[in-house]
Amino acid sequence: MIKVLFVCLGNICRSPLAEAIFNDKVKKLGIGPYFKSDSAGTSDYHIGELPDERTIKCAQVNNIKINHRGRQVNRIDFREFDYILAMDHQNLQNLNLMKSKYGFEQKEIFLIRDFVEGSQGNPVPDPYYGGEEGFHEIYRILDEAIDHFLNTIQERHQIYA
Ligand code: 4NP
Repeated sequence: MIKVLFVCLGNICRSPLAEAIFNDKVKKLGIGPYFKSDSAGTSDYHIGELPDERTIKCAQVNNIKINHRGRQVNRIDFREFDYILAMDHQNLQNLNLMKSKYGFEQKEIFLIRDFVEGSQGNPVPDPYYGGEEGFHEIYRILDEAIDHFLNTIQERHQIYA
């Protein structure tokens, strides 16, 4: 079982949407049972909350199931998850500080767009203070990034239906 954690700041917009897109793709590929996924935030701002209503709407429009409650990244996550994927540089920096504090210096954390050739180093922009169109934009970005991430790990771990 390969365990994948998606991380943003609030865990109500980007990372729960990423988790939902990932779950939908592995299910459609017939490889769902090989994976466990979750999402979390670096902040404690929205612990216990449902995803933002614009996130829920975006998932509905794209016909994917979203089912998550906000939670904060914790020490156990660095041990538990094989792949920890950050949405932007601020999340990445915070995760790298946390991992050192908790004794997981050797754990590599990735930016989710690092799996897309030509988009390495680019963030998934924070849509929280913008309008609804920002959610269409992050959906497109995440859909592409997750396709590339899945290709990479399917090949690396030889996971095929
Ligand atoms: P997310 O978006 O990190 O993609 O979930 C945000 C959600 C909430 C806040 C910022 C970003 N906030 O400041 O409360």
